[in-house]
Amino acid sequence: MNPAAAAARPVGGLATGFAPSFRLIQAHFWLGLAGLCLFAAGLVFVAPTLEGHFFQPRLLGLVHLCVLGWLLPIALGAMHQLVPVVFEVPVRSERIAWVALFLFAAGAAGLVGHMWSLSVGWGFPAAAALLTTSVILYAWNLLSTLARKATMTLTGVYVIASLFWLLLAVGFGMALAWHLHAPWLQMNHLLLLRAHAHAAGLGFFGLLIMGVAYRLLEMFLLSYGASERAGRAAFLFVNAGLIGLVIGFVTDGGVWTIAAAAAIAAGVCCFLLQVRTIHARRMRKKTDSAWHLTFASFAYLASAAAVGLGLVLWTDPPHELVLAYGLIALPGFVGSVVIGQLYKILPFLVWLHRFSPYVGLKKVPAASEILPEAPKRIQAVLMHAGLLTLLAGMGTGSGALRLAGALGFAASALLATRNFSIILRSRP
Ligand code: HEM
Repeated sequence: MNPAAAAARPVGGLATGFAPSFRLIQAHFWLGLAGLCLFAAGLVFVAPTLEGHFFQPRLLGLVHLCVLGWLLPIALGAMHQLVPVVFEVPVRSERIAWVALFLFAAGAAGLVGHMWSLSVGWGFPAAAALLTTSVILYAWNLLSTLARKATMTLTGVYVIASLFWLLLAVGFGMALAWHLHAPWLQMNHLLLLRAHAHAAGLGFFGLLIMGVAYRLLEMFLLSYGASERAGRAAFLFVNAGLIGLVIGFVTDGGVWTIAAAAAIAAGVCCFLLQVRTIHARRMRKKTDSAWHLTFASFAYLASAAAVGLGLVLWTDPPHELVLAYGLIALPGFVGSVVIGQLYKILPFLVWLHRFSPYVGLKKVPAASEILPEAPKRIQAVLMHAGLLTLLAGMGTGSGALRLAGALGFAASALLATRNFSIILRSRP
């Protein structure tokens, strides 16, 4: 669509004529919800035996079901909505985004299936190659969308950096998949695995969430004019720390790794300071469960940074602490913010596409009235209770507690799917 025509269409917070079709965004969200349910089922299945070293076939499958099945499709869908809207440029190519989505779905299913059963035949690197191609297409599409914008905001800088970290993470992932199929690395692959996991978890998800959080907090809490100093410091600390961490892991350099982890912890503190600065200037005082989930996710982030620092200082940390670290960072930090912000973004988009044409013609609910608060609140409580019980089960070595936690999380996943289905299906 040409920019003049796009600009002439109504502008409203999260949507303008610059955004791609709602079908594309919905397809990503539906895929993510299916992935969430499968991940929850997998967690229940694995929870009673969830102990020992992190490198296990089922755990590899479960981790990627979480990130590739649930978190990444929703993050990519939200990016396709937010990037064109926040930066007021049309998405480079919607067709490329559809192609990337199909390659992604096929690659993710193949990779998770092969990991779960540790079958490392040709299908394993082939699935990784499909994913790599898909992520390159996504990143190219989004980066060339951003390149159309002459001026860059702090959020834009975070988004660009997050996409570069994603490309690096997937590059490492492809190299590791090939190594499992036909060993070629001259180093311990577990060191590259750590670099891969941190480039993806903190480099992509972490920076993306931090950068977008600044913008969404300002938009939804009506907070204007906050200084960005802490946000800029957070960007520098986290990126410098990540570069140090990757070099430290790959070269097995202990001092590098400790300094890098300290820099990342400092970056997380600066991020929280920036959130506090924006929050303090808000004009909208009332917060709902979407914000409680979001602020809980920042608490998970702070805990992950503390545990991460502990892990690099501890010479031989217990396996359970490493597993807990992954649980706090992925379903805890990334999962909470993904669910929380979806409760904000989705009703707004559905309202804009389905309800807004009827304004003035008949009585239409406000976006916030499409789904009542109670089911969202119950879902959030179940999610945190499930994750915390799972963590307690890991700490005490109790299989029964771990299973109870996984069942709580699964109940929250079903309720989240029910809640989002109601929003996605609602019509005037
Ligand atoms: C973008 C989100 C991703 C995240 C957060 C992520 C995270 C992780 C984590 C935490 C592990 C270690 C799991 C364990 O040992 O239990 C791991 C391993 C692995 N990942 Fe990913 N991953 C992501 C995407 C990918 C992609 C797209 C590929 C393929 C192209 C991939 C390929 C692999 C492989 C092959 C391993 C096993 C490495 C080895 O055995 O040495 N990952 N990943």
